[in-house]
Amino acid sequence: MSGAGRPGPHLWSGRFDGGPDAGVFSFGVSLPFDRRLFEEDVEGSLAWAEALARAGVISQGDADAMAGGLQAILAAGRADAAFVSGPDEDIHAFVERQLVERIGEAGKRLHTGRSRNEQVSLDLRLYLKRRIPGIVARLKRLAGALASRAEACGGALMPSYTHLRRAQPILAAHFFLAHAAAFRRDAGRFERAADEADEMPLGSGAIAGATCAVDTAFLARRLGFSRVVSNSLDASSDRDFAAAFLFACSVAMVHLSRLAEDVILFTSEEFGFFDLPDRFATGSSLMPQKKNPDPLELARGKSGRVLGRLAGWLATMKGLPSGYNRDLQEDKEAVFEAEDTVSASLDASAAVVAGLELNAERTGRAASGLLLATDVADYLVARGVAFRDAHAIVGGMVRTLSAQGRDFASLGPDEWRAFSDRFEPDVAGAISAAASVAAKRTPQSTNPEAVRAALDELRAWLGGGR
Ligand code: ARG
Repeated sequence: MSGAGRPGPHLWSGRFDGGPDAGVFSFGVSLPFDRRLFEEDVEGSLAWAEALARAGVISQGDADAMAGGLQAILAAGRADAAFVSGPDEDIHAFVERQLVERIGEAGKRLHTGRSRNEQVSLDLRLYLKRRIPGIVARLKRLAGALASRAEACGGALMPSYTHLRRAQPILAAHFFLAHAAAFRRDAGRFERAADEADEMPLGSGAIAGATCAVDTAFLARRLGFSRVVSNSLDASSDRDFAAAFLFACSVAMVHLSRLAEDVILFTSEEFGFFDLPDRFATGSSLMPQKKNPDPLELARGKSGRVLGRLAGWLATMKGLPSGYNRDLQEDKEAVFEAEDTVSASLDASAAVVAGLELNAERTGRAASGLLLATDVADYLVARGVAFRDAHAIVGGMVRTLSAQGRDFASLGPDEWRAFSDRFEPDVAGAISAAASVAAKRTPQSTNPEAVRAALDELRAWLGGGR
């Protein structure tokens, strides 16, 4: 039983007659995972102590004592990660206990006018703002590896696919730059999630706002935020920024999974377009010939857990009444697991991509043959045949040639003309994979000059701003 008015073991013990049930209390403990917010929590408290002193709520002497104590706590946690542990309910309780143990009475004034509801929002916002640039850097490393592969491919050709059936020839570089374009969009999505987190919630109190006139604009500046939240009630329940982060993680994992699927297919015996270096493969315990692309399969597989974290988090948020609810504590494990999984998957994928070797002889062979049919139709169109008629003529040619196991390259001049008198002797030279890519005209196309420009533009983004 705790005596009236005497602080108990928990931040809120005074109201209760006796301690909480140990098993149920431990069900609610978050310190084992929110300890990851240690630095942010101390940083927020340092700023809060300053704001309290500036508002005249505490003496400068108390504020100085708090700053000294908090700096010492920060140093202890930085020196030894195991320091951040104990019987505390959460990271906020941990830091406050440490402070009171160090500086006594003054430490008990730190929580004046403040609630853990706004503290936890602040901590997670600070955390995401600090961590997102690291993910963007990893995305850029992967895009850089794709750019290097594109460069190394030179003018090598490969087939593109729709419905996983050969469609049209492209430069192999175009394939790598296609994946890079997706990861570049992801970087933008992460930056927008960081922008969403960039609102300073202190001053919201538990829900209705603070009674002491703390300078929220000062707090925002001091903590590196560009703006202050607009409504304390909304602020206590808002975790949209966590959802935005999880969405960015999910889309990045979808992109990693699709890259992995392409590379798994294209390094298989059936395709043989790229060689996977031995150091990124594993063998079979039974079948001596196997060389398995496990890191790619894991990146593809792990996308499931990140998508699950997004879906799970949206489900947690959807039924909540306005204001803080303890359900919101679930945000942290979702964010941390998604962050760890995306980071590890990006690193492994960048390493594998950097080691891919193009088998240009095989991709070039696969890029010739009947997938030049569109180019044959375009040839007829250039000589006055309506596209729909050209399509039908070439469709008939494909039917005949595939029945005979032949392709366009095997046709003699008379055979061409038997299909249409618009075919001139130059047709044999005009129909090739290299001519096909060179004939493309738009900036987003696989035309070699367009691809060169796209690579330069990607490198400019990698090297500098956005
Ligand atoms: N551990 C809590 C969380 O993550 C901190 C906020 C606790 N607030 C409260 N009123 N119990 O959400």
